[in-house]
Amino acid sequence: MSEKNDLISFKHIYDLSYRRNLQKFFVENHSEHVDCLRQWAEEIKNICFFSQDTNDINVLEVGCGIGRLTPFLAQIFGQTIGVDFSPYAISQAQKLNVNSQGIFFINQDFLKFSYPSKFSLIFDSHCFHCIPWNEDRITFLKKSWENLKIGGFLAMETMVYNNALSEILDEDGLYWEKVLTSLDPIVENWLPTRRVKRAYEIENEILNMGFKIVYFKVQDQLKIVLPDGKSMVDLLRVIACKKSNIKIN
Ligand SMILES: C[S@@+](CC[C@H](N)C(=O)[O-])C[C@H]1O[C@@H](n2cnc3c(N)ncnc32)[C@H](O)[C@@H]1O
Repeated sequence: MSEKNDLISFKHIYDLSYRRNLQKFFVENHSEHVDCLRQWAEEIKNICFFSQDTNDINVLEVGCGIGRLTPFLAQIFGQTIGVDFSPYAISQAQKLNVNSQGIFFINQDFLKFSYPSKFSLIFDSHCFHCIPWNEDRITFLKKSWENLKIGGFLAMETMVYNNALSEILDEDGLYWEKVLTSLDPIVENWLPTRRVKRAYEIENEILNMGFKIVYFKVQDQLKIVLPDGKSMVDLLRVIACKKSNIKIN
């Protein structure tokens, strides 16, 4: 069984990856997926904040990367803060969105996140499955819980297991990838960069934190390719509500 190893700094690894691959983000930009996520954000607005004035909504986008989604979140919901632990990604997000209204970026590890006010919505596009260790996934959900207002929502799109992945993932559902761990000199190592769980396991993780699930759907029309360039993963969309300060479960 793979255990958490504090010697692995995912912050450092993502930062290097952004430094090396930024061009890919700009050139390819995955615009079809961005359009799907925009529609998903509009659906979240209708489900969670129907007819609510956007002046009353504030959003935290977890793992915002270079902020490719942040502008439309701000357009749909109102004031949006993007947080990412990669200093380089955040510096690019700030540059790219310098003229956008209602957007603000913070360079922090979400697992240690602290902010003076609470949020109406925490939006996660593909950060949760990038957290491989189970204890960190619990911390991710705990931080989401602590930083939401009562009645606030956590909405996420995340990778979910299907049988086709049995040969690609290890027995713990970890996806191992050869990643850059140093730029000068160039060093690459095999590391677990994704944890892809079954839908019921993700459901239990969220319920165990006290959330009430209001939306839970595997998007069978929507798949994403793993970094190996060929394995297709299903995506799960979840909306969970913090109904009160008291945990329901
Ligand atoms: C797959 S990328 C998704 C980027 C962005 N959400 C998007 O859809 O374009 C995952 C992002 O999560 C960030 N991330 C991973 N773990 C994090 C943590 N503990 N705190 C903050 N950001 C984190 C990474 O730096 C990376 O930008």
